[in-house]
Amino acid sequence: MSSQTVSTQPFSDQKPGTSGLRKQVPDFQQPHYLENFIQSIFNSLEGYQDKTLVLGGDGRFYNRPAIQTILKMAAANGFGNVLVGQGGILSTPAASCLIRKYDAFGGIILSASHNPGGPEGDFGVKYNVGNGGPAPEKVTNAIFEHSKKISEYKIEDAEDINLDQTGTHKIGDMTVEVIDSVTDYAALMESLFDFDQIRSFLSGNFKMCMDSLHAVTGPYARDILEGKLGAKSGTVQNGEPLEDFGGGHPDPNLVYAHDLVELMFGDSPPDFGAASDGDGDRNMILGSNFFVNPSDSLALIAANASLVPGYRDGLSGVARSMPTSQAVDRVAEKLGLDCYETPTGWKFFGNLLDADKITICGEESFGTGSDHVREKDGLWAILFWLNILAARKQSVEDIVREHWQTYGRNFYSRHDYEGIDSQAANQLMDGVKSQFLQLKGKKLGDYTVKYADDFSYTDPVDGSVSEHQGLRIGFEDGSRMVFRLSGTGTQGATLRLYLESYEPDPAKHDVDTQAALGGLISLADEFAKIRELTGRDEPTVIT
Ligand code: G6P
Ligand code: ZN
Repeated sequence: MSSQTVSTQPFSDQKPGTSGLRKQVPDFQQPHYLENFIQSIFNSLEGYQDKTLVLGGDGRFYNRPAIQTILKMAAANGFGNVLVGQGGILSTPAASCLIRKYDAFGGIILSASHNPGGPEGDFGVKYNVGNGGPAPEKVTNAIFEHSKKISEYKIEDAEDINLDQTGTHKIGDMTVEVIDSVTDYAALMESLFDFDQIRSFLSGNFKMCMDSLHAVTGPYARDILEGKLGAKSGTVQNGEPLEDFGGGHPDPNLVYAHDLVELMFGDSPPDFGAASDGDGDRNMILGSNFFVNPSDSLALIAANASLVPGYRDGLSGVARSMPTSQAVDRVAEKLGLDCYETPTGWKFFGNLLDADKITICGEESFGTGSDHVREKDGLWAILFWLNILAARKQSVEDIVREHWQTYGRNFYSRHDYEGIDSQAANQLMDGVKSQFLQLKGKKLGDYTVKYADDFSYTDPVDGSVSEHQGLRIGFEDGSRMVFRLSGTGTQGATLRLYLESYEPDPAKHDVDTQAALGGLISLADEFAKIRELTGRDEPTVIT
């Protein structure tokens, strides 16, 4: 076996987005495309010689060949050891857990998260740093710079290794350990939650369903929920990871998790329903005939943290991404906690978590997590809810309604216009921004503008500044509308419109969300000319 140096030409489109490099599978299958990007990652790092790399993915199409290539490249580039999940499977939070637990130099996670998979679907490569979290912008920028000038890559001339059995192999001087994908992650969950209390709760009349959407959480959910916690066998549905996610869209929302939604809103629904996405970092929580908005879920998790052993000693602070509703801000205020507002993207929580400024954080995009790893964590959120339910012995709906009674309700909705023309999307954003200067104090419909800006964030830990993170218009009564272009799509552009209003009066908490936000919705359309510019009469997805 020997190491080879292969000549290559740069690709101009290897700029990592919100969450790594995400492209359609045929893009990744171009000769040298994956290799160039992996070598660009390695070229942007220093000091990894003889260190450990964690490697795995969500099981989507191209996961296995990519892993074999990356193993050979890691060997040729001088890594000492690679920990790879059995079958190539590692959920994103499990990879983060392994990087931390085994003090790895970093990790490569192969996933396009909630985007569909298969030969014509999406694929992605994310690099995580030594704290277990997504590479910060200075690292992703360096990777991009290297990708633009790469001229060669190194790869070991070696046989593929057997990923299906745990065991130890050698590629050149590098050791490859194929490890059980679940064990370390499950142990971490057991250290945070009251497994005895949840187990005894699940042995009663409580009924639950977890939909893994044929994505990565199947093996984790089966082991933890059905194995360790004794949930009825069959609790985990669609638990076999498939390369094309069974043709579905592995995104846990009301549109794409339709089977679960049908069950939870059908005749005699279970008490609790949950789903997670392709790579296991997102979550959706449902009660019988009841949807828990992710922003509310974050607020509720923070408010109930003292019921959970791993968080019983108190929280150091909380954080949410800018477009996430301000429900958690109200909890923070009441509990006397600092509350940070970051740009969209989990990576922005990393410094706050490392500096112990926050313990719990979350995003409207169905992501919740804590300082236990440096990624959002779908099963963690589901277990958190189970722990709260086991401790409070009330229904999901009652718990949420009580929360609104205490803190008031932040009506919240996100309207997505997927796959629109990129030029039209930019025109729309420019149009919104161009009106900002004269906006302060002005009346728009029934609302008076308090502020209008292009969100910019200064990281309180390292002082780095991230600009152009979404256009927000805040009104005097606390309502907001936010316009943002998605950073994770692979076709055209996706416009996200985030809408929020606050209602302190419990007598008005029953109003339908879209009705409660109706005024803001039409105002946003008028103000940004959404229908006119996108040519769409309605959003593709409403959550
Ligand atoms: C990924 C990131 C999240 C982020 C989301 C935003 O899932 O991990 O932290 O909230 O992308 O996606 P968007 O499509 O709105 O840019
Ligand atoms: Zn994901």
